[in-house]
Amino acid sequence: MELHNLVEKVSKKFFITERDIRRILSALMTSDDIWEVIDLADVPVMALCEVWKALEEKGLVEVSDKRVSLTAKGLELARSYKISPIRSFTCKLCEGRGITLAGLEKVEKRFKEIAKNRPEAIQDYDQGYILEDVTLLRVALMWQKGDLQGRELLVLGDDDLVSIAAGLTGVAARVTVLDIDDRLLEFIQDVSEQEKLGIEVIKHDLRYPLPENLQRAFDTFITDPTESLRGLKAFLGRSLSALKGPGSAGYFGLTRREASLQKWQAIQRFLLERGAVITDILDDFNAYVNWPYIETMCSWEFLPVKTIPKRVWYRSAQYRLELLGEPGPDTEIYSGDIFFDEETATA
Ligand SMILES: [Fe+2]
Repeated sequence: MELHNLVEKVSKKFFITERDIRRILSALMTSDDIWEVIDLADVPVMALCEVWKALEEKGLVEVSDKRVSLTAKGLELARSYKISPIRSFTCKLCEGRGITLAGLEKVEKRFKEIAKNRPEAIQDYDQGYILEDVTLLRVALMWQKGDLQGRELLVLGDDDLVSIAAGLTGVAARVTVLDIDDRLLEFIQDVSEQEKLGIEVIKHDLRYPLPENLQRAFDTFITDPTESLRGLKAFLGRSLSALKGPGSAGYFGLTRREASLQKWQAIQRFLLERGAVITDILDDFNAYVNWPYIETMCSWEFLPVKTIPKRVWYRSAQYRLELLGEPGPDTEIYSGDIFFDEETATA
């Protein structure tokens, strides 16, 4: 058994490299929990399930008592390629994000009280929100980078409640939020009125271009797109069109759980072609609360072990970009479904 044979087999369905297979084997040497393996492997869930199938056919992996592992034969293969368990050297204090909430205690306390009453994530719009601390850390990041204080901020899709956390700082010149979900719009509107945050709340379907008055109107955008390629282009195309021009900045999450590096490359190219430069990629910055529809998400039936995750397993990198040029007109309409492509796992 050679790794390149595995790559050839799985490549018929998914974009995958030998590097990905190595990482999967390494993850299987590190943990016997399927969700932890998915988290560590950093390849799309659907591709990982396909690799698992191929490994299983060759007797290289097994499931026992809902735990996953390499068989003796699998371990032998891994060792012959000098593959070993994953070592972690991540900073324990900031968990690798590079920033903390020190100095933001008042905002943190108020935000967490407010978030207790938030609407639950629903499958209809591929929702799944991040830990409360991470919402606050996103705001801290924008503040630190000079993209919040005195700046006009647009939040596109906000089940993470970034608009509220940003509003609570009181330093932004304007906070506007777009969403399609009436529950969220009402919640944010109510909180904004109670707390006197002055957030502007607008219902919008991102498959369609932004209203004229929101185009070229903001210094900063932040969004957490759905991860299909069309969905990413819809969210990010709209986001860029909202920026005033050179010097404006944008923030978004991009995961490895549902996006191969081939998709990353396509998105990076899309952004560069539209006048942006990527200034930061903070790996695993965003950590997501497990959503209530795990068992009906589309990858569930392919998982080798059906267990409900007990810890965070879905993470995404936090991207930051700046505009150097003009993004150009954003007129494309994305009809039909924008949540699904072959790498989609959680919609
Ligand atoms: Fe640190």
